[in-house]
Amino acid sequence: MIIQRPKGTQDIIGKTALKWQYLENEIRKICSEYGYQEIRTPIFEATELFQRGVGETTDIVNKEMYTFLDKGQRSITLRPEGTASVCRAYVENKLYAQAQPLKLYYLGPMFRYENTQAGRFRQFHQFGAEVLGGEDPLVDAEVIHLIWEFFQRLGLKGLEVHLNSVGCPNCRSEHRIQLQNYLQRRKADLCEDCQTRFERNPMRILDCKNKRCQSLTSGVPTTLDTLCNDCQEHFSQLQSYLKIVGIQYKINPKLVRGLDYYQRTAFEVLAEGIGAQNAICGGGRYDGLVKEIGGPPTPGIGFAMGMERLLAVLDMQKVEIDLETEEKVLIAALGDKARQEGFKLSGELRRNGIPVLMDLLGRGLKNQMKYADREGVRYVLIIGDEELAKDIIIVRDMKLGDQKEVPKETIKQYLLQNINNI
Ligand code: HAM
Repeated sequence: MIIQRPKGTQDIIGKTALKWQYLENEIRKICSEYGYQEIRTPIFEATELFQRGVGETTDIVNKEMYTFLDKGQRSITLRPEGTASVCRAYVENKLYAQAQPLKLYYLGPMFRYENTQAGRFRQFHQFGAEVLGGEDPLVDAEVIHLIWEFFQRLGLKGLEVHLNSVGCPNCRSEHRIQLQNYLQRRKADLCEDCQTRFERNPMRILDCKNKRCQSLTSGVPTTLDTLCNDCQEHFSQLQSYLKIVGIQYKINPKLVRGLDYYQRTAFEVLAEGIGAQNAICGGGRYDGLVKEIGGPPTPGIGFAMGMERLLAVLDMQKVEIDLETEEKVLIAALGDKARQEGFKLSGELRRNGIPVLMDLLGRGLKNQMKYADREGVRYVLIIGDEELAKDIIIVRDMKLGDQKEVPKETIKQYLLQNINNI
């Protein structure tokens, strides 16, 4: 029986892999322009990091983590997200001693044991960015600016930025009281998950996807109703910055996000037409997280976007991606001596940056030409006994359909002058 890949995972091959490379290049470019450095943290971490960081009451920690005991009986978890790891690395490597705010970005696989559906995988990839050590609303605005600018550059249209403030621990305790008072009488009608949330994390009831819960919470007090003065001021300054640079957003008072670490700013970017899983980016401020995992009190804010969902939007909107396929050379050597010469030549050309293929299967000329065609080769260099004797190489231009004899000692110059991608 054929062994299949695990449910909720993907093989990324061929043209799709080129699209990923294109996106990754654009990400690296924009991150460097905004002053972010790359961080690569381990793919697995101590389970406790996510329990403390992401929060015991979240679906991610409760239901979705890939957790196992390693051979040393340590509880290990495949990372379900990147923020907790970045904060752990910040503390462990004393990055707070560097110039602040520290701006870090990452790209890589995340793991959540979710019910799979279109746009929802068990191994998926995030591009994320975190800014540590900056509390000013201008930091929030610059983070959202990067996201907005990135989507503009990719040529995406019709995206919606949803924005909210979930307040700080002070105003949140007031919100909790008001919310519980409001829902007390309706508690029994809430879904099972929300009944648990009622005690443990009532704010999450606001974004329950259950229709009944949604109707029960239609007039409910939101975090915006209970913001303290400082949080209100922070939120309104953020909005004025966004307006100054023309970023359009919608205030969504029910946006509370599925991770426990958020304070104040919370946001998501939604895309139409890719199905129910339409959040292509989510993020917010997490001013208590670094302290929570044992570091000095440090404000933080960041986001992550799902690469698979991003690609789905690019495909759906038929955005042309310039997948510059390189012009390649195939050395079609015929006979033992020619194969030896061709093998030597292939190394020399590659050393000069010319992409070279060689027939490795001992095919005849006709089949080598077919191979060149399937591989999208631009120039075929034909070397047989006759060419060896005359010290020449026949260069066939597969695009123009013509061919010429080029002296062997000038072949490198000839190709360097003619190949477009060099
Ligand atoms: P999140 O909202 O859980 O936030 O995930 C961010 C994005 O990752 C989502 O908007 C979505 O595009 C993608 N995503 C999440 N789960 C899946 C899945 N199962 N399949 C495919 N794509 C998925 C976080 O992870 C936070 N760490 C973001 C953050 C960074 N907040 C502050 N800093």
